[in-house]
Amino acid sequence: MPSDTTFATLKLFMFEKAANVLKEDQVYLLPARLDPLMKQYGYDSMERMVADAYHGKNLALGRAIVDAMTTHETQFFRDAKFWAELSQNILPTAIAKFSGKRGLRIWSAGCSTGQEAYSLSMLLEERFPQVASKTQIYASDVSEAAVATARQGLYSMHDAARGIDTSRMARHFDRVSTGVRVKETIRSRLRFSVHNLKEPSPFSDMDLVLCRNVLIYFNEIDRRKIVERLTQAACPEGLLVLGSTESLPGTIKAIFPGCYERRTLQSSAKSGVGAVDVQRATSRKAV
Ligand SMILES: C[S@@+](CC[C@H](N)C(=O)[O-])C[C@H]1O[C@@H](n2cnc3c(N)ncnc32)[C@H](O)[C@@H]1O
Repeated sequence: MPSDTTFATLKLFMFEKAANVLKEDQVYLLPARLDPLMKQYGYDSMERMVADAYHGKNLALGRAIVDAMTTHETQFFRDAKFWAELSQNILPTAIAKFSGKRGLRIWSAGCSTGQEAYSLSMLLEERFPQVASKTQIYASDVSEAAVATARQGLYSMHDAARGIDTSRMARHFDRVSTGVRVKETIRSRLRFSVHNLKEPSPFSDMDLVLCRNVLIYFNEIDRRKIVERLTQAACPEGLLVLGSTESLPGTIKAIFPGCYERRTLQSSAKSGVGAVDVQRATSRKAV
């Protein structure tokens, strides 16, 4: 088992780099996640490797540790109830409000290996093809490795089958030697980038901002700051969609489950009703 010092240094490192709060019971993850990096970077001591990363002695190693210690669990059309809500209520509302101007502008924040953003692109293609052709989906994650995977749009058959039925498989994927690749039409409206939610948002004027299964990794203060930044990235009447375990407290009225309007969030902030008060918002369930 890694020493207490190793874990304590790693906790500081992950907090400083990505605002992620490692829980004590996550110590069991270290061998599986960090042993391969010890081999790759030639360390025989995990404690030294983590200390070198913490002290900025090897930036590539530091990035690799962030990649390894962030949780990338995701799948296509994850949480069927949410996708039904998106299809029946949230997207039609966004389209009625915004698409007249120039299609939709959407941001998937904390996109992991891309499945959420590609699922959105597929759903738009299926249900709202005319809007789809004018829509831009921006997708970002702190993990360079996850973003590199997302950009390629290449998945094993096993990963794709998690969430994709046979008709979607036939419609939206091409077979390749290693598995399947998302078709060009679906990929063409996506732009992936590396972005740390600790930093100010690089995006603005978004009609729809999705941040699902991400806030659970932050402490209360950072969750609050991040919700503020996500809100600011939305256009004045833009929509912010959070994961099912991340909804904001009852004082802030969701227009659909987990879906908030920027102006409501801002007016609640002004009146001090805890607009972006996500203190009680999240369960700490790891995903
Ligand atoms: C569990 S995945 C969620 C993926 C997708 N949104 C979903 O719901 O399926 C959480 C993602 O948040 C990303 N993440 C964690 N800390 C982050 C930060 N500070 N900035 C940006 N992304 C972060 C992780 O790298 C990971 O890919």
